[in-house]
Amino acid sequence: MITEITTQELSTEQFINEKVKDIKDAVADGTAINALSGGVDSSTVTMLGHRALGKNLRTIFVENGLMREGEPEQVVGFFRELGVTVEVVDAREEFFAALKGVTDPEQKREAITQTFYKNVFGRIVKQSGAKHLLQGTILTDVDETVAGIKRQHNVFEQLGIDPQETFGYCIIEPLIQLRKDGVRKVGEALGLPAELFDRIPFPGPALAARVIGEITPDRIETVRKATVIVERLLKDTGAFQYMAILHEDRVTGMRDGKRDFGQQIELRCWDSVDARTATPTRLSFDILETLADDIIRDVPGIVSVTYNVATKPPSTIEAI
Ligand code: XMP
Repeated sequence: MITEITTQELSTEQFINEKVKDIKDAVADGTAINALSGGVDSSTVTMLGHRALGKNLRTIFVENGLMREGEPEQVVGFFRELGVTVEVVDAREEFFAALKGVTDPEQKREAITQTFYKNVFGRIVKQSGAKHLLQGTILTDVDETVAGIKRQHNVFEQLGIDPQETFGYCIIEPLIQLRKDGVRKVGEALGLPAELFDRIPFPGPALAARVIGEITPDRIETVRKATVIVERLLKDTGAFQYMAILHEDRVTGMRDGKRDFGQQIELRCWDSVDARTATPTRLSFDILETLADDIIRDVPGIVSVTYNVATKPPSTIEAI
């Protein structure tokens, strides 16, 4: 049973002191490893781990081929400024091989989970001799997984999976009592720049959560290009999260006077406090038109752009 620490109750200083001590006690004079994706949760865990363990923490950015444009370089750069060295491991081929031919959303998540924890991380941890993996699981991940809504790729114990047995290492989850807004406060208190602690949420399965149907390098590239446009045009809206989703169905369009049986992008932009419920942001039609024009002009193959107006529930924030 996990006891929630609400954002109102949270004293960041006390929380940080306690978690730093817990991490030190658990790892003792051994070493730990953590995976940094650059999201709020993994960035905050990196700072906590760095404070607790210093050089005895190895921070790794797994380049899975599913990240946004320029993300690996950007994240490594931010942490360099904070005095944290991040190693980049190129595992693109392994991820795309595991995702080949997989179309079911939960199977995609499972393929990413297995590739990440068992293959890539399992190998790194084994080679390094580390016994602990620090991870930024938060309470919302656990809730949604246990409720059977979505299998968050970082939740194990609550599903009866023993990471020690399955992957060969212990997982430490210092943020598990918090929700996203609490994590942001802790991240800020740990010295993360606003670009990191105030970043819009981004899912563990990365752009794979935004491609309906098979994940291929080409389809990821399509959604990646659309994401650049969406993030550029919506960053000042104050919305909780916004995204582009690539659909599987094709629709007839016209390009250069010819019929083009093209692809569709769905846009989503959400107002939410903690991701448990969400409503679509009332974007102006002008912004929607600019989004559509820029996406159709700059993303090859797209002939249709739609905006989602359903609420969560019954929708979810991500599309898979
Ligand atoms: P949903 O789509 O379940 O998303 O309404 C709720 C929040 O969680 C993020 N999300 C994920 N994060 N692994 C993650 O680490 C996942 O599999 C995953 N699925 C969704 C999502 O971006 C939103 O902020």
